[in-house]
Amino acid sequence: MWKPPERIKYTPLSDDWPTREQAARSLLFSPVQVGAMTLEQRTWVPAMVPWRASDDGFVTEEVLDWYGRFARGRPGAIVVEATGIRDVPSGPLLRIGHDRFLPGLRQLVERVRQESGGHTRLLIQIIDFLGIRRRPERSKYLERFLQVNDRHRQALGDPALSDDAVRERLLALDDDQLQQVLSEREWESLTMGQRERVTDTHLPHIAELPLVLPELFASAAQRARDAGFDGVELHYAHAYTMASFLSATNTREDGYGGPLENRLRLPLEVFAAVRERVGREFPVGCRFLSEECIEGGNTLEDSTRIGVALAQAGMDYLSLSRGGKFDDAKQPKVGEAAYPYTGVSGFECMPGYIADEFGPFGRNVEPTAAIRSAIRGAGLAIPVVVAGGIHTFTQAETLLAEEKADIIGIARQALADPDWFEKVRSGCGGQVRMCEYTNYCEGLDQKHKQVTCNLWDRLELDEPGVRRSRDNKRRLTAPEWRRE
Ligand SMILES: Cc1cc2nc3c(=O)[nH]c(=O)nc-3n(C[C@H](O)[C@H](O)[C@H](O)COP(=O)(O)O)c2cc1C
Ligand code: SF4
Repeated sequence: MWKPPERIKYTPLSDDWPTREQAARSLLFSPVQVGAMTLEQRTWVPAMVPWRASDDGFVTEEVLDWYGRFARGRPGAIVVEATGIRDVPSGPLLRIGHDRFLPGLRQLVERVRQESGGHTRLLIQIIDFLGIRRRPERSKYLERFLQVNDRHRQALGDPALSDDAVRERLLALDDDQLQQVLSEREWESLTMGQRERVTDTHLPHIAELPLVLPELFASAAQRARDAGFDGVELHYAHAYTMASFLSATNTREDGYGGPLENRLRLPLEVFAAVRERVGREFPVGCRFLSEECIEGGNTLEDSTRIGVALAQAGMDYLSLSRGGKFDDAKQPKVGEAAYPYTGVSGFECMPGYIADEFGPFGRNVEPTAAIRSAIRGAGLAIPVVVAGGIHTFTQAETLLAEEKADIIGIARQALADPDWFEKVRSGCGGQVRMCEYTNYCEGLDQKHKQVTCNLWDRLELDEPGVRRSRDNKRRLTAPEWRRE
């Protein structure tokens, strides 16, 4: 994780937690309408991938435990992690690209309903992503992966060289010389790992994305509805396909890139296909970025226009994140893949406790407020969810009172203490285990290890029924709250 050069260290915020009566009168614990769905309170656990699905993308007992544990804290809504819409192998990421995934997803819905006593609404985030490879060994890349062409021969000054001879000559070059011979993309594939982009329209499967994605998203949304979810979230944020279409870096020339109205075209077509399939009664929203936080990426001005367009199209809610891009990711080690939360944009997405003078708390609030205000200015009333470094009642209540957002996303704080919602609601806010924004959890995510929080993953390990991580060292869910 990138850290700002100021390296100012922050400790968790303290709060005058409300009494039960104050909580009952608060905005945070008041209901809100999201399309056809009512949330009992304005609290929301945004999507977080915990790496608990089976290797072929099915719901496991560990997935059930994970969401069941959040449900016992009874937040207004939980959004299930980014779940793949295609029927292709994608490691232990949850999938919804075929009907065979339905029984597991139904169990998940049932578990959350039971554990929350029916108080928590459950949505699922659906995602498409493009191919990314691990960073190769230099020799392997030059001997096997690089597609030799005449540009290389020319750069080496001998048009008659065989492919093997080109490879041999390239292997003998030092890095500076090699960078002169390889194209920018080849150099990137060698030093970062090969990564597809939506602008790679010379590749047929990328060119045809606008043809295939509406149907893929619509079928996935239909499965979400069939499995009993209360709604679906289209993942238009961070480093993935739909965010890349929206991005100012999208220069496709087929009517789906360039000016903003073209970049919006596929996201709107996907939404139209989803809406047509699931109907008006099934809540559909999306998550997108208030700012991309990369050079040449979407600014708040772009995102404001995007927000208004998505609201006008009839989305039931908009959830704002920020950053989280591949474009400024750190170089991975050989054998590892780039991770989109390691650069400045990653810090903006999941700000850590080592920060700049602004600190890790509420960095996404003002941009979200600006987008919400433009949506209201356009005469649209849809709820807006904000997330990013929010972990006290006062933070949440103040920004609701100031009409900066309508629903409060609490991700890592809910991971640190899934009972945050019940504790605060019942006047026991002083017992909350406060997130320290160390990003230990995010480090596990980066390594595709089962995500836990260091504040609780070694506690009461020997209690009966405690499920442990693969290395047997950590518990996989937070200990139960014993009311003091
Ligand atoms: C382990 C982990 C996994 C995450 N996975 C997702 C995801 O699947 N989809 C998504 O939109 N955001 C994901 N996020 C980002 C969070 O939803 C949230 O936007 C971010 O952590 C900032 O909010 P916070 O400060 O309340 O944690 C993830 C965050 C963490 C820590
Ligand atoms: S590991 Fe725990 S304390 Fe650290 S950022 Fe994640 S949730 Fe917060």
